[in-house]
Amino acid sequence: MTGKIEAPFVFGVRVEGDTFTDRHEETDRLKANFTYGVNTILISPRRMGKTSLVEHVCSLIDTTDIRIAHIDAFGCRSEHDFVNAFATAVVRATSSKWEEWMENTKTFLSRFVPKISFGQDPLNDFSLSFEYNPANNTTEEVLQLPELIARTKGYRIVVCIDEFQQIGEFADSLTFQKKLRSVWQLQSNVSYCLYGSKKHMMERMFQSKSYPFYRFGDLFYLGKIGEDDWVQYIQQRFRATGKDIPAELAQVICRTTDRYSSYVQQLAWLVWLRTNQTTTGDDVQYAIDRLLDACEPLFIQQTEDLSAYQLNFLHALANGISTGFTQAAVLKEYRLGTAANVTRLKKSLTEKDLITTDAPRQLVISDPILKMWLKRRLWREP
Ligand SMILES: Nc1ncnc2c1ncn2[C@@H]1O[C@H](COP(=O)(O)OP(=O)(O)O)[C@@H](O)[C@H]1O
Ligand SMILES: [Mg+2]
Repeated sequence: MTGKIEAPFVFGVRVEGDTFTDRHEETDRLKANFTYGVNTILISPRRMGKTSLVEHVCSLIDTTDIRIAHIDAFGCRSEHDFVNAFATAVVRATSSKWEEWMENTKTFLSRFVPKISFGQDPLNDFSLSFEYNPANNTTEEVLQLPELIARTKGYRIVVCIDEFQQIGEFADSLTFQKKLRSVWQLQSNVSYCLYGSKKHMMERMFQSKSYPFYRFGDLFYLGKIGEDDWVQYIQQRFRATGKDIPAELAQVICRTTDRYSSYVQQLAWLVWLRTNQTTTGDDVQYAIDRLLDACEPLFIQQTEDLSAYQLNFLHALANGISTGFTQAAVLKEYRLGTAANVTRLKKSLTEKDLITTDAPRQLVISDPILKMWLKRRLWREP
């Protein structure tokens, strides 16, 4: 055999190539935004496929007229961190060679102190970062950087920022957001793609009139991949590895996971492992149990600090109650306390992203597998 063995299903990391499926409409929309310089805001729960989609679109842009900078704001704890990451990403995206990098740094960031570390091949393999000194540089100067480079070099730049909601956690965040928006909205050669998983935070930043990023660009929710697409994908991946799964059982995978991308792939993987030749219903049930095992440590962590009231509220939701929480019978049956308490519970669980309002405006538990775990393993229900 030649080549490396490819896993039939991939989860937990961004997917590309054969393991990236569907998303045709979203791909076209995002690609057009990148090409024509439209700012984009992309929201979805974690592990639905934002990073994979953005990377996929980037890989389709094959013109030197557009450069793409990537920043992951997840690790940024302050304005200072963010500005460093921003400068580093922009210079990286606009310099393909070491010499160019030096030149860009001298021309555009002369007052920055670069930190360089070399790998095995010093000419091509190096990593760089900037130490920006707030005494010498203003944040605005750094934020202008992509526009300055883009104009000078005659191309456009798209800046992609993952886990953007992290900015909302910085000290004095609103002032910083105002600063970002006021600089960015005047840039004509640079556009931004801002995406994040904390739905609640992202919505507040982009959909509240009193927030600086209100109406910043084309906002869309990354939806679920359709059941037919998933079934086709799952069956095809089984076939490619000499196994077989009936369509009905591929559907069970989709319905159990409520089509959450990462869970679909993870459960399909567990089913595939268990399958001898042709998948049986028992194989799927076995795999579901293994999925719960795999998720258990995280679910324990997510729920161990919840109050009894909060768990009771989740219990009501898990049993399909989505409105009328303050009715006396519901308050009593699920031991939710007072009507005022219900309001507090909704707020605190929303802030933890444990519950969310889905499309038909119903309150639900955000994570379908967490819901299943609570029912089966915490409450011992079927
Ligand atoms: N287009 C896709 N096709 C197939 N699987 C996908 C797709 N997008 C996401 N996934 C699955 O979801 C997982 C998480 O994707 P990722 O892009 O990291 O999501 P996010 O950035 O929204 O957290 C991937 O590892 C993969 O299992
Ligand atoms: Mg991501």
